[in-house]
Amino acid sequence: MLDQSQINSLRQASVAPAGHLIDGTPDTAGVGGQIPVISPIDGSVLTTLADGDAALVERAAAAARTAFEDGRWSKMAPAARKAVLHRWADLVQTHASELAVLGVRDNGTEIGMAFRAEPGSAAATLRYYAEVCDKIYGEIAPTPDGILGMIHKEPVGVVGAIIPWNFPLMIGAWKLGPALACGNSVVIKPAESASLSLLRMCELAHEAGLPAGVLNVVTGRGTSVGEAMAISKNIDVIVFTGSGAVGRRIMENAARSNLKRTYLELGGKSANIVFADMPDFDAAVAGAVSAIFRNSGQVCVAGSRLLVEASIHDEFVAAVCAGAARLRVGDPLDLSSDIGAVHNADQLDKNLAALSRAAEEGAQVQQGGARLHETGGGFYMEPAVVTGVKPSHDLFRNEVFGPVLAVTPFHDESEAIRLANANDYGLAGGVWTNDLGRAHRMIAGMKTGVVTVNSYGAVDVTAPLGGVRQSGNGHDKSLHAIDKYIDLKTAWIQL
Ligand code: NAI
Ligand code: MG
Repeated sequence: MLDQSQINSLRQASVAPAGHLIDGTPDTAGVGGQIPVISPIDGSVLTTLADGDAALVERAAAAARTAFEDGRWSKMAPAARKAVLHRWADLVQTHASELAVLGVRDNGTEIGMAFRAEPGSAAATLRYYAEVCDKIYGEIAPTPDGILGMIHKEPVGVVGAIIPWNFPLMIGAWKLGPALACGNSVVIKPAESASLSLLRMCELAHEAGLPAGVLNVVTGRGTSVGEAMAISKNIDVIVFTGSGAVGRRIMENAARSNLKRTYLELGGKSANIVFADMPDFDAAVAGAVSAIFRNSGQVCVAGSRLLVEASIHDEFVAAVCAGAARLRVGDPLDLSSDIGAVHNADQLDKNLAALSRAAEEGAQVQQGGARLHETGGGFYMEPAVVTGVKPSHDLFRNEVFGPVLAVTPFHDESEAIRLANANDYGLAGGVWTNDLGRAHRMIAGMKTGVVTVNSYGAVDVTAPLGGVRQSGNGHDKSLHAIDKYIDLKTAWIQL
């Protein structure tokens, strides 16, 4: 459990210059220079982060390849791999407060959420995949007599993981858990603006007994390190979470190099749909508020569009605006804040620009939207509710990744489905209704990877998370994630 005095002492800790972890050895040299690490809490410089380059990426990939080929992990007994991953999860839990506070100083998420969603869910994810190590079976094909067709599940080799800044430990574990459980080696690149806690978590993997070279971290910019990973011929698969533009670029680089498989999780512009027959008005209001405003809207599955049945539109929107106005936005390391900081200056500018554009396009900013606490040097913003948003508007079509809710009324079920599907994304969505038939029709009609009914953002490692359409491909979490990290090999034996 977290208490304020422990948080207050952890937040004072000085942070040493950080950098790569290659072949088990930390390296803060920064061949591409040093990146200042800015805390969104107050805009102060926490430390520096080493930037890498293509040569360094090749060094990390070579270390990963050597480790993979000599079998120090890939051929370790599955039960022994399982024990290492469980020990790693233990260490993540033991260091949970330290990891959570360090991560918040770097990325600005409110500490209550960060504590649960970062070390908490990362440890749970590592445990889930620890248990997978010795439970992946091959198959025997139903062939005619006289021939044996065996299907082996082999690790792919070297996995490249490129992750974003919003939940580095959770999203990191979604990639690292299954990649390592299957026996692969990994090169991971955290976002340059949120690398500190992920680096610390990867150090703990080595304390847990993960052999050197199996898990390598290269820190730095997308342009210097991310590009080089996607184009490296020594990386077999890229798993990515982040923006659509970068996802496209990764696919291009894969096509230009070794045709590596690419798995992309690209966020969305997800619809949270409230029908007048919802079971509980207050629960639906609370669900709509947290769907968009937790972590300042910096959540891939955020319910950033609210579609409300016209007959209850005004009453429901008034309650959502009141809920938004009650949220305390402030120091993310103060347990009494509901919402922390916006991640960085660029994201804050993007959020404010989205609001100006919405107003220009004819929508109404009903609630919030002002920059807050500017004199303290940090990046904060009032949760904003925008009504009258039309399918042609930018705010309806494009992800903001900020605390900005776009509201659109609908008149019947078919219009709700049409509006829900009226942009290029397809990650998540929510439906609030007391009508079971309608709930199933909505689930069937929504072109998304995830739909929640009478809640928003239900999560568990046991169910897959992934998008359709331009929200990406492939799945994190659950046993389905394993597909990304194995190759099938068919072996025919003539009997
Ligand atoms: P981004 O997509 O630029 O960054 C994600 C990761 O990709 C980072 O590690 C970054 O260094 C790396 N990267 C950047 N350029 C690259 C390249 N050319 N090749 C390979 N890797 C590269 O996201 P950014 O700029 O931090 O945020 C911009 C927007 O992206 C947000 O406003 C939001 O709309 C979206 N986003 C979505 C996330 C999600 O959960 N799906 C998470 C973070 C951002
Ligand atoms: Mg940062």
